[in-house]
Amino acid sequence: MHLHKFEKIWLVFGGVTLVAFLIVLGFNAFSHGHHPPSDLTRVEPAMVDQTAPFDKPGLVKTGDNQYDLNMPAFVFGYAPNEIEIPLGAEITFHTTSKDVIHGFAIPGTNVNMMVVPGHVNSATTTFKKPGDYMILCNEYCGAGHHMMMAKIVVK
Ligand code: CUA
Repeated sequence: MHLHKFEKIWLVFGGVTLVAFLIVLGFNAFSHGHHPPSDLTRVEPAMVDQTAPFDKPGLVKTGDNQYDLNMPAFVFGYAPNEIEIPLGAEITFHTTSKDVIHGFAIPGTNVNMMVVPGHVNSATTTFKKPGDYMILCNEYCGAGHHMMMAKIVVK
């Protein structure tokens, strides 16, 4: 079969480009390792209740106007179920799952996390308006998914 010179050039160009893209793709996919969205801290799902800081769920003062809020997720809720937060404080939520994948979203804020068993996920926000906020699960997790929530009272 006869191939025109330009056809050969373009075939080689196409092949080289494909290989180059595959190398870039492979490098990006594997160079950083595979892990779910998480702050890379690990915790055994069955041991959440015995593992700090989740053995004592709730608010911990970490600075002048800063707090950690440790809230494990489980079917179908969060601990604690309701919590009061000082207005204007910087809150860093830490969560992990005791069983299946859950969501951790607070409408009206930047907090929207995926909660993967075995991993800790964290997000920081400041509540500038007083009132009631809901923590909602936005990952389908079973029969009680639609009832999975917790309440934050900012004042
Ligand atoms: Cu937990 Cu949906």
